[in-house]
Amino acid sequence: MTQGEEMRLGRLHWALEDSTFASMDFLNEVAERYPNAVSMAAGRPFDGFLSLESVHRRLETYHRYLESVQGLGSDRATRTLLQYGPAGGVINDLIARHLAVDEGIETEGESIVVTVGCQEAMFLVLRALRADERDLVMAVSPTYVGLSGAAKLADIPVLPVPTDETGVSLSHLASQVRQARAEGRTPRALYVMPDFANPSAVSMDLPARRALLRMAEEEDILLLEDNPYGLFHGEKARLPTLKALDRTQRVVYLGSFAKTVVPGARVGYLVADQQVEDDRGGAHPLAFYLSRLKSMLTVNTSPIAQAVVAGCLLESDFSLARANSQERAFYQRNLNHLLAGLRDRLGEFSDEVTWTSPTGGFFVVLTLPFTVDDEDLQVCADKYGVLWTPMSHFHGPDGGENQLRLSCSAISTDMIDIGLDRLRDYILSRLR
Ligand SMILES: Cc1ncc(COP(=O)(O)O)c(C=O)c1O
Repeated sequence: MTQGEEMRLGRLHWALEDSTFASMDFLNEVAERYPNAVSMAAGRPFDGFLSLESVHRRLETYHRYLESVQGLGSDRATRTLLQYGPAGGVINDLIARHLAVDEGIETEGESIVVTVGCQEAMFLVLRALRADERDLVMAVSPTYVGLSGAAKLADIPVLPVPTDETGVSLSHLASQVRQARAEGRTPRALYVMPDFANPSAVSMDLPARRALLRMAEEEDILLLEDNPYGLFHGEKARLPTLKALDRTQRVVYLGSFAKTVVPGARVGYLVADQQVEDDRGGAHPLAFYLSRLKSMLTVNTSPIAQAVVAGCLLESDFSLARANSQERAFYQRNLNHLLAGLRDRLGEFSDEVTWTSPTGGFFVVLTLPFTVDDEDLQVCADKYGVLWTPMSHFHGPDGGENQLRLSCSAISTDMIDIGLDRLRDYILSRLR
């Protein structure tokens, strides 16, 4: 039996056939089809850091904290973990302490919403900023696919602002804002990743951060700061986040515990301390309204999962920098190994093949004298046994055609060597 006209794809939300969503499917499917290929595509944390034992221990740590330190007693502590919970989250105060310790961000639990990964945080903010069809969000380009996807679900267009060596081209930002306004549109915010961006791997220095905050002020836009890689900063000292420098509530901070605690918990958060006034003269932080939205999207973030994060925070005196010292060293070693391996194998072709040299994070971008698309990826996986991500996936309709992203987070240095040997063979086959 056919479902009739109403079940045609064209009669459903346009995102169902959008290329961003299809591209994620494609990348996952290629990885599954070539299980023996070395994956330099996946940006996930190293499996060796996943531990069931630490999940159990952290759960217990948080339960004991609720029971004894907070004085809830055993039954209420258990209920906090196992019952439905408040939409905005249960571990907000602990996250606020972590932000003070690790990031120099002074905030309170009530300005925080604990979300199902950073992904939900992005969606909630974008949904809220899209009041009518004139509203748009800007994003550094190339950009994280999760942001582009969330914007599509929230029906808010994304205007790309090019990444330059400072992280974001301020001249383009200013001209985009003015042009959009001249066309009767309303740029609400700019999405940025100031630390080891995914995929560009570019970081902003301190003057660039201050200049961006000044421009956000002048142009009256919000900054959506996404920072999943800041704690993996290699040997160089960390710089303050935009949120730590923010004195005027310009920045909505987006956080993820996927890389710093455990990805399977699916816990992230947002800090939205902007005061939102209602028509009756009252005001609440934006976080208050975003948690209302969340209550109708995911009801609340699993308190069991929040407890795992809270246990990690309690066990490390609220410092995820401390909790991740081993991880940081591992990712740094891998990144150095990847960069040295590229020099060894492709250094003699440096006229034609270049790559970024980030000091931290998970990614390196290669620029090639030929295009690399999804078909090339399949050929490379099949014939050469190595996977990477075509950079075109992180651009709009155009851009990144001759670039690919390598990730070094999920594999060992030995596998990096094998992957790079294969990548070199593939690149040479295309150079000749
Ligand atoms: C830029 C960026 N933001 C956020 C995330 C993580 O999001 P989540 O917490 O939803 O796993 C990632 C992970 O790949 C990322 O690269």
